[in-house]
Amino acid sequence: MKRVAVLTSGGDAPGMNGAIRAVVRTGIDKGWEVFGVRRGYAGLIAGHLEPMGARDVGNILQQGGTILGSARCPEFKIEEGRKKALEMLHQRQLDGLVVIGGNGSQHGAYTLSKSGFPVVGVASTIDNDLYGSDPSIGVHTALNIALESIDRLKVTASSHQRGILVEVMGRDCGYLALMAGIAGGAEVIIIPEIETEPDVIAKQLREAYERGKAHALVVVAEGATYNAERLARYFSEHHELRFELRVTILGHVQRGGSPAAFDRLLATRLGAAATDCLARGQDGVLVGLIKGEIATTPLEVVATSRKPLDLSLLNLAQVLAK
Ligand code: ADP
Ligand code: F6P
Repeated sequence: MKRVAVLTSGGDAPGMNGAIRAVVRTGIDKGWEVFGVRRGYAGLIAGHLEPMGARDVGNILQQGGTILGSARCPEFKIEEGRKKALEMLHQRQLDGLVVIGGNGSQHGAYTLSKSGFPVVGVASTIDNDLYGSDPSIGVHTALNIALESIDRLKVTASSHQRGILVEVMGRDCGYLALMAGIAGGAEVIIIPEIETEPDVIAKQLREAYERGKAHALVVVAEGATYNAERLARYFSEHHELRFELRVTILGHVQRGGSPAAFDRLLATRLGAAATDCLARGQDGVLVGLIKGEIATTPLEVVATSRKPLDLSLLNLAQVLAK
């Protein structure tokens, strides 16, 4: 019999619970003992692991967040911390670990796997910046939450003929901003991947009004050089925009929602695929969805590659904003 542990790490994402449930129940179906690790790598180092039965993961599929808890764990980034984590895995006689998380978490998974411990990663982050999965668990739900807010903001902005500046999450990656901007009908989209001059943005906004628009919407990623706060400050110091501007930072609201159908299904399929990998002795990989199919990518490739963003969509957004 195998003894397998599962943890969630980094920023929580709607759907993580569905992945935990799938790992626990498919593991049990294979005749294994499955253990849940509390609070990511921090809980692993501290030995906070407990056995999980089928009933422990009941009624969680529709819940946002993660029942196991998550954490950012600086200690795990250094050799000493990782050594403690490995010792814990061996001490508890575990045969495998499933790491549900984003870019940083999968870097961590790669370091464990390089030390010879069987690890399988499950792609989960609302940033959708993880190489090895077209969509990662959580991004669909986060995008829908951002869009719902954007739709509402456009209503009130139109009533007052205002400009609105909406900041969405995305530490290093503009995926959420780009998609929310296109689906929300933004006049301007600002992402970390492309430097955008605030003077150019001001011009685009003024032109939108001159074309007769009742509002002008800017969607900006938090990781852009000019995030919402800096942009608003720049405008107030340098520009007479000729219309009022209001700023909304969506922040963590985007992360806490109940997972949409897509994320529940993705989480379920990826969680099940992770235990299948461990069962056939395939480890050191990330399971993700590529071109609609479950696919595995070596963690080394995941840790050393940058996921491309289709920047041609920015041009499309500009045409559509006319
Ligand atoms: P996410 O997984 O959502 O991208 P983080 O980047 O904060 O979130 O990473 C989550 C955790 O993964 C970190 O707190 C740390 O414990 C671990 N981690 C991140 N980067 C590395 C790395 N290069 N090597 C080892 N562990 C890492
Ligand atoms: O990685 C997901 C993410 O939501 C980023 O978009 C954001 O920058 C970060 O996490 C916020 O982290 P925290 O929850 O630690 O404030």
